[in-house]
Amino acid sequence: MIIVRTIDALRAAASSWRRAGKTVALIPTMGALHEGHLSLVRLGQIICDQTIVTIFLNPFQFGKNEDLGSYPSNLAQDTEILKVVGADLLFTPDDKEMYPDGFSTGIIPGPVSKTLCGAFRPGHFRGVATIVTKLLMQSQPDKAIFGEKDYQQLLVIRKISSDLNIPVEIVSAPTEREPDGLALSSRNAYLSPSERSLAPLLYRTLCRAAEEIKAHPETPDEICARADQELRSSGFSSVDYVTLCDSETLENMQFYDRPARLLAAANIGKTRLIDNVQL
Ligand code: PAF
Repeated sequence: MIIVRTIDALRAAASSWRRAGKTVALIPTMGALHEGHLSLVRLGQIICDQTIVTIFLNPFQFGKNEDLGSYPSNLAQDTEILKVVGADLLFTPDDKEMYPDGFSTGIIPGPVSKTLCGAFRPGHFRGVATIVTKLLMQSQPDKAIFGEKDYQQLLVIRKISSDLNIPVEIVSAPTEREPDGLALSSRNAYLSPSERSLAPLLYRTLCRAAEEIKAHPETPDEICARADQELRSSGFSSVDYVTLCDSETLENMQFYDRPARLLAAANIGKTRLIDNVQL
């Protein structure tokens, strides 16, 4: 596996592959790799000739009171894992490489970024959109792969790449889960043993609510409100949202009559968990 820390070296490797007629998959990450990330790398290996994994803890997508300072990181371990999986190139720039002094440009995503996590984490999707656009321009991959656990992020990235005519196919991959249903996430490392045993309730509640909505398509809001209440009364410290949305626009749906996604964000102690299911 080639390891590079500069944009020049990334560009040189990616363009030599392109000149040789190889297709390139990009898998952007913030490190603390788990099986969910590795499933994206394996998908990249199936759909493209070469895979580039990026590890960059992007400060611009964290709010002032969020967990940038405590976000798990272990570059040495991540590097070994990627070698075993067989990624072709690892790009690990530092903050100065990505945001040199005087950096002052941002990509402002449209309405799909304003609701749900966008409403609770102001500036988050601007940070995501900016870094992902930079990574796409720097590596110019044929395909870039993102997990469906961050469903709103996936839609934001699809929209910016289509609005900005970035010549890349955005590919999504299903959420990887623990055997008890908890969606894999680097933030699961924050959970204490008792919080960890409560955490799978988020997915179970979403699955049950989805079945109820299918049976009663006229009352999604009531069903979501009940799910929200169940999470709170079971020990979640707060629930940011449980809501049924149009699966393309993320507009709230008062009636389930078209492809939809049921999405939730809830906190256990200091840990914010997100998850979603398709209807
Ligand atoms: O999903 C993530 O890990 C991050 O938001 C991403 C896409 C790597 C951008 O920093």
